[in-house]
Amino acid sequence: MGYRIALLPGDGIGPEVTQATITVLNATGVDIDWVWHEGLGAEAMETHGVPLPPAVVESIRELGVALKAPITTPVGKGFRSVNVQLRQELELYANVRPCQSLPGIDSPFKDVDIVIFRENTEGLYSGMETYDAKNDIADSIARISRVGSQRIIRYAFEYAREHNRPHITVVHKANILKLTSGMFLEVANSMSKEYPDVTYDDRIIDNMCMQLVTRPQEYQNIVTTNLFGDILSDLCAGLVGGLGVVAGANIGDGCAVFEAVHGSAPDIAGQNIANPTALIRSAELMLRHLGEYAAAEAIRLALINVYEEREGLTADMGGTVGTNEFAENLARGVSARVQLGSLS
Ligand code: NAI
Ligand code: MG
Repeated sequence: MGYRIALLPGDGIGPEVTQATITVLNATGVDIDWVWHEGLGAEAMETHGVPLPPAVVESIRELGVALKAPITTPVGKGFRSVNVQLRQELELYANVRPCQSLPGIDSPFKDVDIVIFRENTEGLYSGMETYDAKNDIADSIARISRVGSQRIIRYAFEYAREHNRPHITVVHKANILKLTSGMFLEVANSMSKEYPDVTYDDRIIDNMCMQLVTRPQEYQNIVTTNLFGDILSDLCAGLVGGLGVVAGANIGDGCAVFEAVHGSAPDIAGQNIANPTALIRSAELMLRHLGEYAAAEAIRLALINVYEEREGLTADMGGTVGTNEFAENLARGVSARVQLGSLS
């Protein structure tokens, strides 16, 4: 029997990159029975009165694994982000975003290998915002809890150890945000003593941005709070070829949701020009999570091959190939590798 996995195709470029990812996953031969959850966000608002119906959250919780494309959040008004709400309700506290140079991709640096561990449930994304109409003042609460800090920092140290990536940098603003960022830093300082095999240092966020755009090779694992992690992930995506190629995983204790770093890209939606690599690589992370290492490797190697050949690339990479064609070409490479693997 196959895996039962939740599939959230999202909106904007979501359905296009989802279809492309399914094409590639089909080529691996891994048997997946998708449980579709379409029309979240704006559409669900109209039909259900809420952007994320509770039944969808329950379904993902029950299945334990989901593949998710981006969902649009209205800017400055309207409903709360479905993406943030899902992470909070499912307690997907670790947002893991590997930003690695891929051979064949044109980017400012050739040898970047950074994994970002973004705290995914609290900080400035706690959803506690108030508006005082009388004085025309708005407030946001950046909640940091000790337990919340411990679990993401522990996750990063364990990952560093397990994946033989023995250096961690904690990123903060504890000079100014003495209580919130201060607590996060204090937890990291004390936990680092439990991991003598992992070297450890810290950077203040503004300096970190400058360091990353000049000497990214000096960093390996970055653990940080929600907002800083959100910003640093897009920055690091820019170092390795852009938002079209960087994958992510939202991990909790009983559940995992795999999604790209990028959003719904309304500027290019519906044109069959989006790069599906980021969601395909998120699916690769999902396969590793399921223990399907051979299938994941087939995707990784076939992708490298497509980029190294430089033909068959999407517009963001300077090519002229559409989303579908890109996926079909990649799928041929994946299925050739899977067949080779089954013969050897
Ligand atoms: P975005 O990531 O959607 O787009 C930023 C820029 O990168 C755009 O120029 C876009 O065309 C380009 N881009 C993004 N993904 C691409 C891909 N796969 N291939 C080629 N080019 C790509 O960020 P933006 O415009 O700030 O946000 C748009 C919407 O997405 C907003 O409503 C936002 O809230 C939502 N969003 C959702 C996320 C999620 O579902 N996890 C994450 C980030 C944003
Ligand atoms: Mg973001």
